[in-house]
Amino acid sequence: MKNKTFKNTDEFKQRREKIFAKLKNSVMILFSGEESGWERFRAASPFVYATGFEEPDAICVLAPGQSEPYKMFVRPRDPAKEIWDGYRYGLDGVKKDFGADVSYDIKDFYTELPKILKDADAVYYSLEGTERDLHIIRAIKEYVATLGRTGRGMLPIFDCKEILGEMRLIKSAQEVQWLRQSCELSAQSHKSVMEQVWSGMNEKDIQAILFKEFFSRGAHREGYFSIIAGGANATILHYRDNNSPTKDGDLLLVDAGAETHYLTADITRTYPMNGKFTEAQKDVYSRVLRVQKELIAMVRPGISYSDIQEAARAKLTKELIDIGFLKGSVEENIKTKAFTKYYPHNIGHFLGMDVHDTGLYSINGVSRKLEAGMVLTIEPGLYIPEDDQTVPEKYRGIGVRIEDDILVTPTGQDVLTVSAPKEVDDIERLMSIAQRRA
Ligand code: GLY
Ligand code: MN
Ligand code: MN
Repeated sequence: MKNKTFKNTDEFKQRREKIFAKLKNSVMILFSGEESGWERFRAASPFVYATGFEEPDAICVLAPGQSEPYKMFVRPRDPAKEIWDGYRYGLDGVKKDFGADVSYDIKDFYTELPKILKDADAVYYSLEGTERDLHIIRAIKEYVATLGRTGRGMLPIFDCKEILGEMRLIKSAQEVQWLRQSCELSAQSHKSVMEQVWSGMNEKDIQAILFKEFFSRGAHREGYFSIIAGGANATILHYRDNNSPTKDGDLLLVDAGAETHYLTADITRTYPMNGKFTEAQKDVYSRVLRVQKELIAMVRPGISYSDIQEAARAKLTKELIDIGFLKGSVEENIKTKAFTKYYPHNIGHFLGMDVHDTGLYSINGVSRKLEAGMVLTIEPGLYIPEDDQTVPEKYRGIGVRIEDDILVTPTGQDVLTVSAPKEVDDIERLMSIAQRRA
């Protein structure tokens, strides 16, 4: 049975037109990737970005200087293999359903490539440090050899990110609509999980509920490994075991996002398993929340990424001094990096097809300014080590992160994950109603 995520193929045509304009007389080569073992295949983001095609063992060549600029190398149809691995579009399907100008059998790629490179100024190919690089370099050499004694050296190779990274950073109207869908369903799922947890559950049980919520709402995939961290596990930033029992009085940190249309949400919520924050938990949580809201309000075109990064450090450091965990001034604690004991990560990242998406954070050493159409996360957190003898016991092992996904609009910001509750009162009210019902 045919399986096609993207109904709107015009979106991909428009993207290719933009890539063509930037490539001029160069050629871009994109690989979809290979299936490995029993893992579910996800075609490489740059390949899908340009094609909307999701099969493994496929190569897209974009060559705007030629009469057939959109070339696809794919697996041919094969009824015997399709019984095992499912429908293949094949050489005809990739033209008919995905708009390729010309299609070839994937096995002919390296013999065709030298011919395709004819008259190209440069090759855009993302070097991988694998065997594949060698094949590509050989094909380029083979092409250059056909030119005879021209004195011409190898064609230069540029990373595809030079073009695609920047394009992917500014989301089109269609991408925003798709990403909104991922964010809204993920936010609703977080809310729904909040209504279903109770102290004593294992993190694994919570992950199962989360997945049910994601997939019943139409998620295509988990966007990245979900962090379900009870109690002090929340102080491990990339905790991924998700297999400990929780207990009464624990906070739960859930960092999870669903993907639709190859675009993922990235949301973190932290809340008490028993539905009521302790005073110490509320103290830490309210500080993180206040900072997060202030940082979100800063997001607008023209502000630079580093302005937000520095504001986050200053604001969280001030909270750490006010609560009594750090001594001295904000400036001193930033200079000595003392704040990293409790806030060790960055304030966020670009978001899109990859959870840590492409795009340069600074250009020529200068932090770039945000522009309408960018999407970034704002995710401050405070993590108090379980064995930190320098803070009162009631705070030890508390880990709080609050993360939302923010679209930069022409006039400010739009929080795409607003449906996941984060105010203390909202969380406690929601959970008390749910837990009374249970
Ligand atoms: N979930 C990965 C991150 O927040 O960056
Ligand atoms: Mn994130
Ligand atoms: Mn996250």
